Amino acid sequence: MQVFSTVANYQAYRDTLFPSTSIGFVPTMGALHPGHLSLIEKAREMSDKVVVSIFVNPLQFNENSDFVKYPKPLDRDIHMLCQYDTDVLFLPTNDEMYPPGKDLSIKVDLSAYTEVLEGKFRPGHFDGVITVVHRLLKIIQPDFLFMGLKDFQQQTIIRHLIESCSISTQLQTVETVREEDGLAMSSRNVRIDTSLRPEANKLYETLMLARELRKKFLPGEVKQRCLEKLAASPFEVEYFEIVSANNLQPVTDWKPSGETVACVAAWLNDVRLIDNMML
Ligand code: PAJ
Repeated sequence: MQVFSTVANYQAYRDTLFPSTSIGFVPTMGALHPGHLSLIEKAREMSDKVVVSIFVNPLQFNENSDFVKYPKPLDRDIHMLCQYDTDVLFLPTNDEMYPPGKDLSIKVDLSAYTEVLEGKFRPGHFDGVITVVHRLLKIIQPDFLFMGLKDFQQQTIIRHLIESCSISTQLQTVETVREEDGLAMSSRNVRIDTSLRPEANKLYETLMLARELRKKFLPGEVKQRCLEKLAASPFEVEYFEIVSANNLQPVTDWKPSGETVACVAAWLNDVRLIDNMML
């Protein structure tokens, strides 16, 4: 695996490839787990060269303390990437990503997607995600971009970003990888208090309940019953919404066309978890 920490070095490498060589790109913030590895596996299947980036993007953290606490086990990550047959690790510094004085503004309005759900509780978060993904796509110039459905809203926003900016990269999404009890894998899971860990799958159980209730009740009733289930758990809910998978707006009935997804964010003590499920 080759490791590049500057844009110039990555681009020099890219220039050595045949134009027909396809590049699959997996952006991450490191602290890799099997969820990330499933993206790398799919990238391996679909592309000639697999590029993974690790960059803990300060712009997308609302609280500096969350940024500081974010796990950064770089040696372990590099070891995992070597085992997963990654061709390139792009490991930029902050200055490489955000050179002082460089205009990185993006002239598309995605606020209809960025200000709902997560956006309501983490203002500015998706502006940071859009900025970093847009910059990474410009640098890496991949044919395919691999993102997890675990971050449902994020992949929806990036899909709209790619469309709006006519970027010639195809977005490929990958199913959420879960622990045995259903807890969605996340770099934040290591921070869950061990005494609370047995309760952490309640988010998943609630989403499964929503899927069951969908057969009998309208979205409003499903939401209500799911909130009641979570209220009886140690989770403190920020939101539980049933929305259109395409535009992320709440639905009031189950239209025959268009998919719906239940999205939830909740705190387990001081750890904020998100999850979702197609209904
Ligand atoms: P990070 O949280 O490291 O996630 C990197 C990618 O892994 C994202 O596409 C995410 O959806 C996917 N992923 C995380 N957990 C997963 C799971 N359990 N199953 C399947 N896929 C999973 O998301 C980010 O980083 C950042 O916002 C980033 C896009 C890199 C921009 O900074």
